[in-house]
Amino acid sequence: MYDQKYWNQRYTNEAYLYGTDANTFLIENAELLRGPVLSLSEGEGRNAVFVASRGLSVLGVDCSEVALEKAHALAKSRGVVIETEVVDLAEFQPKEQRYNTVISISAHLPSSIRYRLYPLIEESLKPGGIVLLEAYSEAQLSRHTGGPKDIDMLMSIEKIKKEFPSLNHQLLIETDRKVSEGEAHSGMASVVQYVGRNEA
Ligand SMILES: C[S@@+](CC[C@H](N)C(=O)[O-])C[C@H]1O[C@@H](n2cnc3c(N)ncnc32)[C@H](O)[C@@H]1O
Repeated sequence: MYDQKYWNQRYTNEAYLYGTDANTFLIENAELLRGPVLSLSEGEGRNAVFVASRGLSVLGVDCSEVALEKAHALAKSRGVVIETEVVDLAEFQPKEQRYNTVISISAHLPSSIRYRLYPLIEESLKPGGIVLLEAYSEAQLSRHTGGPKDIDMLMSIEKIKKEFPSLNHQLLIETDRKVSEGEAHSGMASVVQYVGRNEA
């Protein structure tokens, strides 16, 4: 399974690597969320817990069982229930027409995985469903405030357009913003923000 050992080691500390507050872009767009929600690369649960606290059902998937155990602990401490599944996104098979929202927050993946996964994500949306994504952009490569040091894993407007061809791009920007999401994501950062809707 891709990098599972690396991620389990990163999550082994008691502290939450990306904090316990949800991602800012997700919070800003909370009104768009409809359940059921699938959260890719959920990590330690901050985003799934936010979604669940809005009364929506959410499945968080990640390759790190250490992270997902922490996710359940966070959910319990906030009095909400989340579902999780340990998966390798290189092999993950989301159910067709199952979700009204798919969240992808800092779910940086190599193109080899994205090219297989993203068409399945498009198919996993119900009519009217959305993908809500924030990822570090290619401009982040020269910064030292978080994110992978591999340009293939960083996103751009062009990559989004190419990789989600069936969705209606309702918001698609590259922008710089101050990120303060745990010790691992901290400081000025360059990101791509995306909301795409299945108009089928
Ligand atoms: C930068 S962290 C982001 C975590 C979370 N989305 C957040 O914003 O707090 C990236 C996550 O991707 C997960 N990941 C990386 N490669 C994966 C793969 N092939 N399949 C499933 N999860 C993967 C890691 O375990 C890690 O939790």
